[in-house]
Amino acid sequence: MVVSYHRSTQAIIHTDAITENVANEVHRLPKNRELFAVVKANGYGHGAIETAKAAKKGGATGFCVATIDEGIELREAGFTEPILILGIVEVNYLALVSDYDLAFPVGTLEWLEEAEERLAEFPVKNPLKIHIKVDTGMGRIGFLNSIEVLQAVEAIQQNPQMDWEGIFTHFSTADQADDRYFQMQNQRFKDALKVLPHLPRYVHVSNSATALWHDEPIGNMIRFGVAMYGLNPSGHELKESYPLKPALELTSELIQVKRLEKGEGIGYGETYITPKAEWIGTVPIGYADGWLRKMQGFSVLVEGEFCEIVGRVCMDQFMIRLPQAVKTGTKVTLIGSNQQKTITMQDIADHLETIHYEVACTISQRVPRKYVK
Ligand SMILES: Cc1ncc(COP(=O)(O)O)c(C=O)c1O
Repeated sequence: MVVSYHRSTQAIIHTDAITENVANEVHRLPKNRELFAVVKANGYGHGAIETAKAAKKGGATGFCVATIDEGIELREAGFTEPILILGIVEVNYLALVSDYDLAFPVGTLEWLEEAEERLAEFPVKNPLKIHIKVDTGMGRIGFLNSIEVLQAVEAIQQNPQMDWEGIFTHFSTADQADDRYFQMQNQRFKDALKVLPHLPRYVHVSNSATALWHDEPIGNMIRFGVAMYGLNPSGHELKESYPLKPALELTSELIQVKRLEKGEGIGYGETYITPKAEWIGTVPIGYADGWLRKMQGFSVLVEGEFCEIVGRVCMDQFMIRLPQAVKTGTKVTLIGSNQQKTITMQDIADHLETIHYEVACTISQRVPRKYVK
């Protein structure tokens, strides 16, 4: 999909907000704890490279991505800091992760056996940087018990093509007020650490929610994701420990404004029929941009007023009801502030009955990202 630069719709990313969110967290961390910025999924839709630059400025000393290609993107942009892939790497790609110096998790003994066979046949240039993943209750990837963790450590240490760089786990409920499951996971991880002969360079357990709301977890690195984009990981449930600055605004402009008489249908399927004569504006962004059909009935801001989206959202455009005649070219704010009124990503998530993570990642590649300070 090409980026549609020649259209007024854009996502404006305030990189200084990202820098500030990271810096605020870095200042709160104990001295021996580093912050790795999670810039997977194109920096949660904000753009991986620019986000990584802004996070580095705020004090991030490494990065987390989800896939090999996301790691390569950072390396090719010139980042020399540690990069940890959070997903499982297929053994076919060991040479690639070695060449690009990308660390990655291992979560089963079968994987290690397969990798050993592969490495015997096709040695890698630089030892593979391996982080042992302990599944303490997420049920996703990782070793399920301490015996296997220890066996994995031994296998890695016996192989000169492998470097045991880290051990970690991931909490599934750190963003909830009830911390019983969190505490259980934390205890399981501590138990897994007890069997180790020594600790590797990185021990890490904290995502944003853990960093914001749980002081006690161990580790010398945190994987800081959604909060650095200025979004509260818990949605509404827990209050931010310090103010997070949202980094993304989504704006467009009215491309047509018209007065329609009573009884006119708007959009596919005439799901909205003007109940009286109304001013209707058209906004050039649609579901192909990630502005989903379910946004019908939600509002956007024009000249400081909430204007309802009427009729179905089309692939590339949608229509709104305006309170009065407004000039073509007037700014439309879909996310962000417009004359003292604000629409947050959380508002959109509430309307869509989802989480803001999904809203941010859904803004498609077609929408240009403009970086401002
Ligand atoms: C393993 C792991 N660590 C850290 C993160 C960052 O989480 P958050 O964005 O909530 O800070 C994620 C995100 O999904 C993850 O999967």
